[in-house]
Amino acid sequence: QHCFTKSPDGFLYCEDTKVQDIMEKVEKRPFYLYSKPQITRNVEAYKEALEGLNNSIIGYAIKANNNLKILQHLRKLGCGAVLVSGNELKLALHAGFDPTKRPPSSSHSVCSSGLLAGSEIKARLWTILECIFNGNGKILEDLILAAQEGVFVNVDSEFDLENIVTAAKVAGRKVNVLLRINPDVDPQVHPYVATGNKNSKFGIRNEKLQWFLDAVKAHPNELKLVGAHCHLGSTITKVDIFRDAAVLMVNYIDEIRAQGFEVDYLNIGGGLGIDYYHSGAVLPTPRDLIDTVRELVLSRNLNLVIEPGRSLIANTCCLVNRVTGVKTNGTKNFIVIDGSMAELIRPSLYDAYQHIELVSPTPPDAEVSTFDVVGPVCESADFLGKERELPTPAKGTGLVVHDAGAYCMSMASTYNLKMRPPEYWVEEDGSVTRIRHGETFEDHIRFFEGL
Ligand code: LLP
Repeated sequence: QHCFTKSPDGFLYCEDTKVQDIMEKVEKRPFYLYSKPQITRNVEAYKEALEGLNNSIIGYAIKANNNLKILQHLRKLGCGAVLVSGNELKLALHAGFDPTKRPPSSSHSVCSSGLLAGSEIKARLWTILECIFNGNGKILEDLILAAQEGVFVNVDSEFDLENIVTAAKVAGRKVNVLLRINPDVDPQVHPYVATGNKNSKFGIRNEKLQWFLDAVKAHPNELKLVGAHCHLGSTITKVDIFRDAAVLMVNYIDEIRAQGFEVDYLNIGGGLGIDYYHSGAVLPTPRDLIDTVRELVLSRNLNLVIEPGRSLIANTCCLVNRVTGVKTNGTKNFIVIDGSMAELIRPSLYDAYQHIELVSPTPPDAEVSTFDVVGPVCESADFLGKERELPTPAKGTGLVVHDAGAYCMSMASTYNLKMRPPEYWVEEDGSVTRIRHGETFEDHIRFFEGL
């Protein structure tokens, strides 16, 4: 079941609510519209896929979408949080995540009272290890906060390890660390979102593994090695890629364990792609992803951590725009909308395709043409879609850019003083709630007050 559907009457619906009706009720500016039930369904799909893998963790990658209401909802559903900055950690704390939660013990199905009953195991599955701090340039101040809060930290480089040691000393707390290993597996995606190739800026290469193990051994009061992490890239559409990486990773874990480290966590990162083209192509599901690594994880008795962002949140949302007008220059037809690369930069930045459609039925005599869908921002990179077959829309017609839940609002800017848009969601009962205020001109002026 998908949340945005065209009904036979030709109107676009979000769950059972007509998008056109929502447009009439909310502010007259571009806005992000989410389906809360779709967020729940996406998490459920991961939870079902992870059944049978005790102590596994869905670490939602906050960078994909940092709306506080969404984060709170994901926490209630049992997700953990994957962070890349001190502010993301502060936001996670604000949303109620508790970084000090841990699995019952390093053994998987036993606790002090003996074997856990099946239902107890299930109850514990989703509520452990709430925060993991990632990143190739974590600053000391943020690491100190992470150490104080008991967050798991991924070690990315020699200098990062030094900083984590310093942070542990300042906080007076041992830090649980995972080694982020760069496995050199090609994710077959746009180079800007590939992260696990050997020449990428992320992680440590295997030839340096021993150095890191020795460094951890040299700091028994500051560091506890608990696992290994990798993240290959984003928009990955073949699960074999995850499997290839997992095979390498469990071999590294064997090596690490052979040196006496008790490591329990295998973190295979995020990266699962979605069907941006709405082509009906069969893409791998969370279950396909988990099934491809399941036996490896079980064979080593590991706690599996995954870090989905896009596949949890992208398809739950549209950017809703209004048509300002239609024009033709040379051989090009343009639909000019009020939204732009300021609200949604993925097409401009990665040449990404996001599906576009009108929210209302087309009159039977409407002419269908090939349009570039562009915004009002003063540069030619400002497009939301290129060469789309669309009926010529009247001024004021609603036009949505689909799959805008991940890396859209969180990458929005105020370029041309467009100001970041408000966000709404459709609730389970069909009501529409604002979940973030739109930024205003006054917000901008506030930065200069008293200067
Ligand atoms: N874990 C780590 C360490 C990451 O770097 C990322 C994303 C994720 C998890 C989540 O990956 P996902 O499941 O969302 O693919 N702005 C780009 C995507 C950048 C991804 C950055 N890292 C875009 O709009 O396509």
